[in-house]
Amino acid sequence: MCGIFGIVTQNEQQLGPILVEAARRLTYRGYDSVGAATISGSKIDLRKDKGRVEDVARLYNIAEMRGQRGITQLRWATFGEPSQANSQPHLDSDGDMVGAHNGNVVNNVELRQQFIAEGMTVRSTNDGESCVHATERYIDRGMGFIDAIRCAYQDLQGDYAYVIGRINDDKLYAIKKGSGLVVGIGDGFTCVSSDLPSILPLTKKIIRLEDGEIVTLWAEKVELHSVVDGSLIERAPEIITEEMSSVQKGGYAHFMLKEIHEQPQVAGELLHLLENSRDVQVILDRIGKARNVFFIGCGTSYHACLAGAVYFARLAQRAVIPVLAPQFTPQYLPTVGPLDVGIFVSQSGETKDVLDALQGARATGMACFGMANVIGSTLTRITQAWLPLTCGYEISVPATKTFTNQLITFLFLAYRLGGRDRAELSALPDLMQKTIEQVGDAVETLVPAVNVWNDLYCLGFGTSYPIALEGALKLKEITYAHCEGMLSTEFKHGPLSAVTDGFPVLFVTPPDGVPLIVSGINEVTCRGGRAIAVGEQDDRLVANASDLIVIPGPPREIAALLAVIPLQLLSYRMAVARGYDPDFPRNLSKTLTVD
Ligand code: AGP
Repeated sequence: MCGIFGIVTQNEQQLGPILVEAARRLTYRGYDSVGAATISGSKIDLRKDKGRVEDVARLYNIAEMRGQRGITQLRWATFGEPSQANSQPHLDSDGDMVGAHNGNVVNNVELRQQFIAEGMTVRSTNDGESCVHATERYIDRGMGFIDAIRCAYQDLQGDYAYVIGRINDDKLYAIKKGSGLVVGIGDGFTCVSSDLPSILPLTKKIIRLEDGEIVTLWAEKVELHSVVDGSLIERAPEIITEEMSSVQKGGYAHFMLKEIHEQPQVAGELLHLLENSRDVQVILDRIGKARNVFFIGCGTSYHACLAGAVYFARLAQRAVIPVLAPQFTPQYLPTVGPLDVGIFVSQSGETKDVLDALQGARATGMACFGMANVIGSTLTRITQAWLPLTCGYEISVPATKTFTNQLITFLFLAYRLGGRDRAELSALPDLMQKTIEQVGDAVETLVPAVNVWNDLYCLGFGTSYPIALEGALKLKEITYAHCEGMLSTEFKHGPLSAVTDGFPVLFVTPPDGVPLIVSGINEVTCRGGRAIAVGEQDDRLVANASDLIVIPGPPREIAALLAVIPLQLLSYRMAVARGYDPDFPRNLSKTLTVD
């Protein structure tokens, strides 16, 4: 997800160790490249490359870097492959300005063409460089920094924040639009960063920027201006009293809760990326010519494969075979070859079950593509092309934001393959945010009654079937209760015998499956069970279910995806109420590299 940090001091000094430590404290966001720049008088020192902070810092001796101002950046590749040229910070054409960004500039390709046509020197394909040239464009027309950044803001589309400085000046400038940005005020220095962990070791006095605000940093003070009209903004600093461990959790009690709340943001970033990805077309072209298409994964990632297969059938009329990775080898490997396509899905990109299936498939000549969150993981290195999930680190063992971004990736591919209007997908981040805000109370109310049970079921149908399986996995994983996910219609074929007074059964209701779900609900309630529906506001659900957790009413295919959010929250609340740590459930590991 990238991270930026900038510092302004009174005099030239050794800034390297501060920059390395700041970068290290931002690594939790996920990255593949790192860089640092210092500015002193008329000199800029820039050192950067792909790789880990420790390795790049050692190789380029970043610790020795001196300056009156410094910038460091961790890059998580979106535009342009991880490389030295695409690492940040970036210089302007003349090499007298330097800057770095985080976020996505979605019109990067068009802007680069403009900059080149205007005679600027463009050295990379990375969108962070576009932030520098967009500012340079107006500085070269004689504007001051505030006005230049205000004009650049009009040119740079997307969600981002960037920090920039120039030789023969004593200040840094930064702007926030959609990505996080916090200012620190210390004794004889000021700093700015994507997040607090890199600031708090230096100072506890901070100012949080809002979207559309520009900050000018001197060593002794900062000034905020509105990007709209350039007017001065007054904001008193606040003093942070939280411990670092809670700051890293963004103020949330657990990483899982933080990661659930990050879903709208990472969904938005992913959609920007997919719209600009060349690999999407590469994969779709190959699928278009394929004999059989397989979606292959384990655990949560397998549930995403199941959902993806439903999306492909419904939205693009393309049949796909979703399969658990270890079953791929005995069941399908004898049948596949160069005519077939597999998309191997894994958050970590290191799950041995998935990699074993992938190695077997590659040996047959099958076209193997990937979907992963961890850049540089084995899966990303041995597939022909892969799509990044752009979630940053997912620290909590239960997958949450990577699951929703896996679903969004499959939805996007299905929309593209089916030639559908993707405008409705752009509503997803807001709908996810609305869901998080809307379901909280209903989930909270249910926890005491449901939590007395150690057996429950989570049922779904059609698009909501994979969501029900995922909800059941979340409940099992962190509450240690037995929760079975199942097709709702199968419940009457056996498990119905488990229902007694108050027995909880969750019904994840797809908008086009209400009558069927209502039948299932009544089979449970007439035997004394508690039927908890998760679905859109619907009189039939209100009248028949014991409880209804209402999700917003979006277009049909998107609805199922939203329904996983209350299930994630219910699992989280139940685990916490039971006194368990949802981030590190017993017996489980985030990455399973064993058989
Ligand atoms: C999800 O909450 C689990 N931690 C687990 O099922 C996980 O999805 C599975 O182990 C696969 O991991 P991967 O996506 O990294 O391959």
